[in-house]
Amino acid sequence: MPAIRIRAMRTDDIPFGMRLKESAGWNQTEADWRRFIALQPDGIWVAELAGRDVGTTATFIFDTIAWIAMVLTAQAFRGQGIATALMEHALRWLDRDGIDTIRLDATPLGRSVYARLGFVAEGEVVRYEGTSRQVTPATPVTRLTGPDGLPGIAQLDQEATGTNRRRLLELMCAEAEVTTLGIRVDGELSGYAMVRPGTRAVQIGPCIALDELSAISLLNAAAAHASGAPTFIDIPLGNRPACRWAETAGLSVQRTFTRMKRGKPVRENLERLWAGSGPEKG
Ligand SMILES: CC(C)(COP(=O)(O)OP(=O)(O)OC[C@H]1O[C@@H](n2cnc3c(N)ncnc32)[C@H](O)[C@@H]1OP(=O)(O)O)[C@@H](O)C(=O)NCCC(=O)NCCS
Repeated sequence: MPAIRIRAMRTDDIPFGMRLKESAGWNQTEADWRRFIALQPDGIWVAELAGRDVGTTATFIFDTIAWIAMVLTAQAFRGQGIATALMEHALRWLDRDGIDTIRLDATPLGRSVYARLGFVAEGEVVRYEGTSRQVTPATPVTRLTGPDGLPGIAQLDQEATGTNRRRLLELMCAEAEVTTLGIRVDGELSGYAMVRPGTRAVQIGPCIALDELSAISLLNAAAAHASGAPTFIDIPLGNRPACRWAETAGLSVQRTFTRMKRGKPVRENLERLWAGSGPEKG
């Protein structure tokens, strides 16, 4: 069998990435791929077999915590060790001083590949989908533009996720297609939510809030922003009120991801984590 070659992914590989994710039925846009490359240009790869592009894997380093995402193998080349080779390459790159934990959201197809490489399940993330009922938010929600709300958003986000995702949030805030919503209690930011387009559905998330009233208002505002378009939202199963919101909004469970980790547990606060940003990065 020819050797698998792994090389850096560049922006001109995005059409290949789009073809791969389309055939897997995923929701990412070209803008998502561009953001992945911008976030970690030295940590995103294409696998080649006999000169053909056959797979991808992306990593993102947030201080001591890394995420692995976009593990995709072209259908005709599955079961030949391509994802395993990409993962081993990613782990060699990430297993270094200063990275305490590597996390990912596994589909049922990926789970056994990761388990063999030492990943263990730490929880479940449920993807809800549908057209959400339109409900007027109980508390006023404002649109945060450009870098205005960034310091407050980054602080809320880090307190909830236990991860310094400032660079990711900075990139998202700067994207014209990403809408950032915020809510204030006594002048202080008590929550934020992002809404962005996908190729199959509008993606709501991340959504982080200090209290239930802020969270529900943000999610209702995000759903209103989707204005009747098909919507996806990824909710940690440990946040029951968030799941209840999705069910009340008329969304149904599409599938479940297994959140897996290798290394130290991350101290996150699921009560404040109402929606993930997508399986790309938790
Ligand atoms: C999940 C996915 C990336 C796996 O890709 P892959 O290249 O087929 O993965 P591998 O070949 O390394 O491993 C797949 C299986 O083939 C087996 N395998 C690996 N090398 C092999 C070889 N040379 N001969 C025979 N079998 C082999 C592995 O043991 C594994 O078996 P398992 O499923 O029973 O655990 C691929 O199915 C995919 O793209 N799915 C859609 C997107 C997705 O779900 N991605 C995962 C996101 S978390």
